[in-house]
Amino acid sequence: MLNSDALDLLFHNGRTFSAWQDRDVDINLLKQAWDLAVLGPTSANCEPMRVTFIESAEAKARLKPYLAEGNVDKTMAAPVTAIVAQDLEFYEKLPDLYPHTDARSWFAGKEDAIKTTAFRNSSLQAGYFILALRAQGLDCGPMSGFDNAKLDADFFAGTPVKSNFLINIGYGDRAKLHARSPRLAFDQGAEIL
Ligand SMILES: Cc1cc2nc3c(=O)[nH]c(=O)nc-3n(C[C@H](O)[C@H](O)[C@H](O)COP(=O)(O)O)c2cc1C
Repeated sequence: MLNSDALDLLFHNGRTFSAWQDRDVDINLLKQAWDLAVLGPTSANCEPMRVTFIESAEAKARLKPYLAEGNVDKTMAAPVTAIVAQDLEFYEKLPDLYPHTDARSWFAGKEDAIKTTAFRNSSLQAGYFILALRAQGLDCGPMSGFDNAKLDADFFAGTPVKSNFLINIGYGDRAKLHARSPRLAFDQGAEIL
């Protein structure tokens, strides 16, 4: 079992941040978070998540026009913004990632299976990644408010990669948080049959 400090870091004090301390993010922490996140399970170990870290002022300016208006200031202020994406040709790596059977053939040429599997598992991996970033002491601000098609045409043109959502990453300014919104109680969201 995790101790209460670890539970606080990952869950009780883990919040969605929009304001950031003036503190750089060590790129090694992002790499360590990646190494943790990829240990989370995906179907057939397909690992479709791809991440583009936007750090330079130049790359931030490139990202800016695709953001929903309410997401512009927080994203421009964040030390790093991750474009969490999905590789629609993830199955080409299955001979390495799931070598004990021909898992590539479960997907090649099967558009529905590719789309469902890439979206499901890249979203799962993104969740693992948020917790892994928190485990490195970082804070996150996930966002789906942006124009996926336009962003993809700029950042991923000519590739099988499509954006899923964005995560601002840094050290959050806790003083600027609003009160935590309520969560569903077990009985409101779960049942035991
Ligand atoms: C996939 C995803 C997309 C989100 N998109 C946006 C967004 O576009 N803009 C925004 O301000 N917040 C966005 N949020 C933030 C959520 O509203 C926030 O995580 C939720 O209310 C929980 O807040 P808390 O972590 O502080 O408890 C998004 C969160 C997730 C996980």
